[in-house]
Amino acid sequence: MYRFEHGFFEESAQYVREKSGETPRIALMLGSGLGALADAVENAVRIPYSEIPNFLVSTNPAHAGELVCGRISGIPVVCMSGRFHYYEGYDYEQLTCSVRLFHDLGARAAVLTNAAGAVNRMLQPGDLMIIRDHINLVGASPMRGPNVDEYGERFFDASQIYTPQLRRIALRIASQQKLRAKEGVYYFMPGPHYETPAEIRAIRVLGGDAVGMSTVPEALTAAHCGMPVLGISVITNMAAGIEARPLSDEDVRRTSGALSDKLCRYVTVLTEQIAASL
Ligand code: HPA
Repeated sequence: MYRFEHGFFEESAQYVREKSGETPRIALMLGSGLGALADAVENAVRIPYSEIPNFLVSTNPAHAGELVCGRISGIPVVCMSGRFHYYEGYDYEQLTCSVRLFHDLGARAAVLTNAAGAVNRMLQPGDLMIIRDHINLVGASPMRGPNVDEYGERFFDASQIYTPQLRRIALRIASQQKLRAKEGVYYFMPGPHYETPAEIRAIRVLGGDAVGMSTVPEALTAAHCGMPVLGISVITNMAAGIEARPLSDEDVRRTSGALSDKLCRYVTVLTEQIAASL
């Protein structure tokens, strides 16, 4: 059996389904600073990634590494508290596991959140960037290798990965909650090091507004299987070279942590309104 063929993640889904007993409507990928939302899930069933068959294990100490199934405002959700990154050493192909699990569980839309550095000076720490599009020039695709036809076609469209209707909802709620939010282009860098100032200048020329080390593999996997997706970057810092001081994970975590309450409130209303729109 080819290890990523259809039944592979179906086995993971089967295990999660038996434990949670519910079909999620919305899948949430919680990036840095949003971990607290997993604590707000009602009737939560927590499943460590290490228990789920055919799943990966998070190696990042800042990420909890568990799947949280339950309800937010009464809406059945599945949350990943802690995601998998390319810099952890996984193949791009392995990074399909989260969204394929969401798909096999029956989720109808995915909300992918992350922390990112601002390349565009119109963005500042504390802002949200609603991802309009992305740039992925690392030369790989999570869909490399034999195509799994049950999920989608070999050559699939990537011209509208980030669903316009969900972006409109995200911008509207941000404005209602007085959060600064703009649409922009997310530039994927493989990490784990932050970028050099010269790379940031190049990314700006290429059209990136914010830079980060996640989300793109998941968004591509969602596009392949036709799942509506919303990507939200929490701007935690100005990208390398824009300010004089060096970048640190500590600063990134402090900024996202300080926004945690606001973000939890935001994602709660987002979940309600996305569920109502499906
Ligand atoms: N670069 C890459 N990833 C990031 C950054 C950054 O500046 N900030 C948060 N995640």
